[in-house]
Amino acid sequence: MAKLRVAVLFGGRSGEHEVSLVSAASVLQSLDRRKYEIVPVGITLEGRWLSAGGAAARSPERVLREGRPVLLPPEPAPAGAARRAEILRADVALPILHGTFGEDGTIQGLLELCGIPYVGAGVLASAVGMDKEIMKRLFVQAGLPIVPWLSFRRRQWRRAPESVLAAVVRRLDYPVFVKPANLGSSVGISKARDREQLRRALQLAARYDTKLIVEQGVDAREIECSVLGNDDPRASLPGEILPGREFYDYEAKYLETGTQYRIPAPLAPGLRRRVQQLAIGAFRAVDCSGLARVDFLLARRGAQLWVNEINTMPGFTPISMFPKLWAVSGLPYPRLLDRMIALALERARERAHNRYQR
Ligand SMILES: Nc1ncnc2c1ncn2[C@@H]1O[C@H](COP(=O)(O)OP(=O)(O)O)[C@@H](O)[C@H]1O
Ligand SMILES: [Mg+2]
Repeated sequence: MAKLRVAVLFGGRSGEHEVSLVSAASVLQSLDRRKYEIVPVGITLEGRWLSAGGAAARSPERVLREGRPVLLPPEPAPAGAARRAEILRADVALPILHGTFGEDGTIQGLLELCGIPYVGAGVLASAVGMDKEIMKRLFVQAGLPIVPWLSFRRRQWRRAPESVLAAVVRRLDYPVFVKPANLGSSVGISKARDREQLRRALQLAARYDTKLIVEQGVDAREIECSVLGNDDPRASLPGEILPGREFYDYEAKYLETGTQYRIPAPLAPGLRRRVQQLAIGAFRAVDCSGLARVDFLLARRGAQLWVNEINTMPGFTPISMFPKLWAVSGLPYPRLLDRMIALALERARERAHNRYQR
C-alpha cells in the first residue's frame, strides 16, 4: 500500500513561530515513517513556504534555512503548469502552527480550497478559538460558566477612555485582566489592580488588536484538559499548571523554568469529571473537530470552575500539556499523532458527502 503523504506545516507569520518549530521538531521525529511519507513545510516569518528532503527534513530549522520554495495553489489537484516553485502535494496536512495565520482559520481555509484534508479544527472553530469575544459569546450560549467580562472596540477606548474606565469600575472589581481579543501566548495581557494600571493595560492591549477584553480577575488554580475526536469527542485526564510568576504570562510560558506541572491534576473525582464534561461542552460550543485543549480557572476557595478558553492547536512539544495529558490517559505520543491524522481523514470523508450544488 502506498504510504500516506503527510505535509507537516510549521513556523508561520506569528508571534508563536519559535514555539511551532519546537513542536514540529518532535512531530517530525515521532511520525511513523513506515506509514507516512513526510513532507516538511516551513513557513518563514515573512510567509514564504519552503520544503526539504533528506536529512534536513527532520529539522525545522534546516528546512527553513536550506529548503526550496513550494506553493499550494488554491485549486483542487492543479494541473501543475511550469512555475517557480514546486507544487506541494499531500494526502493530509498537519498544521503545527500557533496563533495568527495558522490557528485562526486562514491556513484551514487555504487547505479547504486545495481539497487537502487537515488535522484539527476547521475554518469556523479555528477562527472562533482565536477570538476571545466570540468564543465567550458561544460559551455563554452553551451554558458554560465563564468569568464576568466586558469588551470594547479600540476606537471606543481611544475616543472616550473615561467612559470605558467607568464601565469597567461599575461592572467589575479589581483586580481585572485586560486582553487583546485575538492573540495567544499571553501577549498584550496584563493584570490591573487600580485605575492607573487599568489605563495602562488597555493602552497595551490596544496595540495588538481592534477589540479589547476586560475580565474579572479570580484567585484560581489553572486546570487544562485535552480533547480528541470529531462527532464523539473524548476528554483526557486534566492537568494543572503552577506558574512560578504572578500569572501564566509570556515569560512563565516560554522563558522561565519556574513553572510546574501536575499531570494529572490532583482533583476529587467529581471535580475531575466536571472538568472533562465542560471540556467537551466547550469543544462542541465552538464546533471544534480533531483536537483542542480547554483551559479552566478553578477557584482556590470554594469549587467554582470557569472555562477560560479553548486552544484549537495547543503546544505540541514533548513537554507540552496536550500530549502529556494523553500519555497519562493511555495514548502515547506516536499513537496520538496517528489518531489525529485518522480523525482528519474521517472528517474529510464525512464532508465529502456534502453537495455544494443543487
Ligand atoms: N480572569 C482571570 N483571572 C485570573 N487569571 C487570569 C484571568 N484571565 C487570564 N488569567 C491569567 O492569564 C493567563 C493568560 O490568559 P489567557 O486568557 O489564557 O490568554 P492566552 O490566550 O494568551 O493564553 C492565564 O493562563 C491566567 O494565568
Ligand atoms: Mg491561555
